[in-house]
Amino acid sequence: MIGPSRPVAAGEPVPGADTPELELRGIRHTFGEGAPDAVLVLDGIDLAVRENEFVSIIGPSGCGKSTSLFIAAGLIKPSEGEVLDHGKPVTGPDRNRGMIFQTDAVFPWLTVKGNVEFGLKRQGMPRPDRERIVADYISRVGLSGWEDRYPKELSGGMRKRVDVARVFANNPRALLLDESFGQLDSQTKERLQIELLDLWERERKTVVFVTHDLEEALFLADRVIVMSPRPGRFIREVTVPFGRPRGLLLKTEPAFQEIRREIASLIVTSIEAKLMGSPSGGQEP
Ligand SMILES: Nc1ncnc2c1ncn2[C@@H]1O[C@H](COP(=O)(O)OP(=O)(O)OP(=O)(O)O)[C@@H](O)[C@H]1O
Ligand SMILES: [Mg+2]
Repeated sequence: MIGPSRPVAAGEPVPGADTPELELRGIRHTFGEGAPDAVLVLDGIDLAVRENEFVSIIGPSGCGKSTSLFIAAGLIKPSEGEVLDHGKPVTGPDRNRGMIFQTDAVFPWLTVKGNVEFGLKRQGMPRPDRERIVADYISRVGLSGWEDRYPKELSGGMRKRVDVARVFANNPRALLLDESFGQLDSQTKERLQIELLDLWERERKTVVFVTHDLEEALFLADRVIVMSPRPGRFIREVTVPFGRPRGLLLKTEPAFQEIRREIASLIVTSIEAKLMGSPSGGQEP
């Protein structure tokens, strides 16, 4: 059986989130507000993520996952509601929150090393410290020996590793990942999942990981949050019962498959209920 699963009501405080690292409160967002073709994308998003918690958000294409993450990063100002970082309003992007996008965010004109040290240089970190940190993260993502290569000389998986090293080197407190491994083949994707978990085990950070891959969400996270179709709302959250560290074999275990099936069925039930007009987005099955 899966752990606690519950429908999420708009405006409801999330239990157990005593000192949230990151909070979204009452977020509504409309693109092109006031225009005839305005689109209501998010319709009341509330989320509290505890320090060092790993939360995955899954939902159908176009439901507003990326928009929620961009709002959390401070890159989009929501039409309503607020984002809080340790209780303080977020007014724009800052070093506390690092983001990894679906497409590579590597600079093609910089080498692997240049990309990883970019943020540290901008912070004015002295060279010896920079060199040490950059070498450490390049080695941890398995790119030692590739420091002087340019992105065009790397595979998609290697470019993604540069992205991961770049973000960790900047040492943000929270990581926001938007379908970051979505464009990789399944084997590379699984390796990146393991590498991300290894880095995170050693250096805990608060993570919000957006994906439409339920297996990935379940494998990585402490808590999986399910979004409705647009306008997006959080309609379910499931506490993942597996201990850590986790290895890929977990995915083959009957308990994992069972939970995966149960969450898939929760998603279908919730979405069907929403499509039938239930105000709560579905009842407990
Ligand atoms: N800058 C924008 N201007 C207008 N509409 C936008 C903008 N960005 C996103 N949208 C619309 O908002 C909705 C949600 O988009 P968003 O990218 O957040 O969805 P998503 O859940 O991340 O989808 P996917 O799984 O396909 O990445 C979509 O209908 C999209 O067309
Ligand atoms: Mg998206």
